[in-house]
Amino acid sequence: MSDHQFRKPVRKAVFPVAGLGTRFLPATKAIPKELLPVVDRPLIQYAVDEAREAGIEEFVFVTGRGKTAIVEHFDTAYELEATMTGRGKSLDPLEPTRIQPGNLVTVRQQVPLGLGHAVWCARAVVGDEPFAIFLPDELMYGTPGCMKQMIDAYNEVGGNLVSVLEVPNEEVSSYGVIAPGESRGNLTEVKGLVEKPKASEAPSNKIVSGRYILQPEVMGLLETQGKGAGGEIQLTDSMAKLIGQQPFHAVTFNGRRFDCGSKVGFVEATLAIALDREDMRDDVRAIAQRLLG
Ligand code: G1P
Repeated sequence: MSDHQFRKPVRKAVFPVAGLGTRFLPATKAIPKELLPVVDRPLIQYAVDEAREAGIEEFVFVTGRGKTAIVEHFDTAYELEATMTGRGKSLDPLEPTRIQPGNLVTVRQQVPLGLGHAVWCARAVVGDEPFAIFLPDELMYGTPGCMKQMIDAYNEVGGNLVSVLEVPNEEVSSYGVIAPGESRGNLTEVKGLVEKPKASEAPSNKIVSGRYILQPEVMGLLETQGKGAGGEIQLTDSMAKLIGQQPFHAVTFNGRRFDCGSKVGFVEATLAIALDREDMRDDVRAIAQRLLG
């Protein structure tokens, strides 16, 4: 397998954000789940920051009905800025929300057919380039960020990469799971991929944790991908078909991962990030200690 063609720079990132967020109702009735704040940043902001740190320039949001507030968040708010400037307030807090004009694209996923379908909806914007995918529910917290660690690995091996981490055996059935080959440092060869296997049938306890770098050929595979686990069109199933055709590796993220798709994970992320912030640490620790009695 000659892999020199699988090393083009990764400039685009796809953010599937069309989900209904039913697990967080009623909070998510009128507000997209991706805009729920972890301390003072919406969940989606963490993913966009992580993408930017990794050198990604173009942001593709796969949205759906009721999700336009996510796009508003990354737009210029003239009245807000004029009012703040008039009051002598710094515009610094708005800095992370600025995206170069023309570099934010939205596509609609009109029907909720699964993650694979959501990614496929971005095919025209992705075109003939490798691209990253961020599932914003997975808050990957570390320095450098998860995608930066993956881009560093990509520069070495090219091809396709997923981020992985180990979970207890009884949890693997909620995730995509890799069949690992040889490991070197934080890189593991991927020999197989299976979506939501039974714990007894899982090839390992290394789960895919919501960050991907994929070659554009996956879009052609998604085009005809049949339904998989849960009756959904699964990204995992099309990725599995790339194995053996193109390089495929997993990167074990050196950092912390918070599962913000669950309420407990969301609270954990909020606490951990507050405790990590110099401006809040002491107060939050004192409050936590008081609450715990
Ligand atoms: C999706 C992917 C799965 C991955 C997970 C990470 O599953 O299909 O492979 O491990 O995200 O959070 P979902 O959470 O949409 O069921």
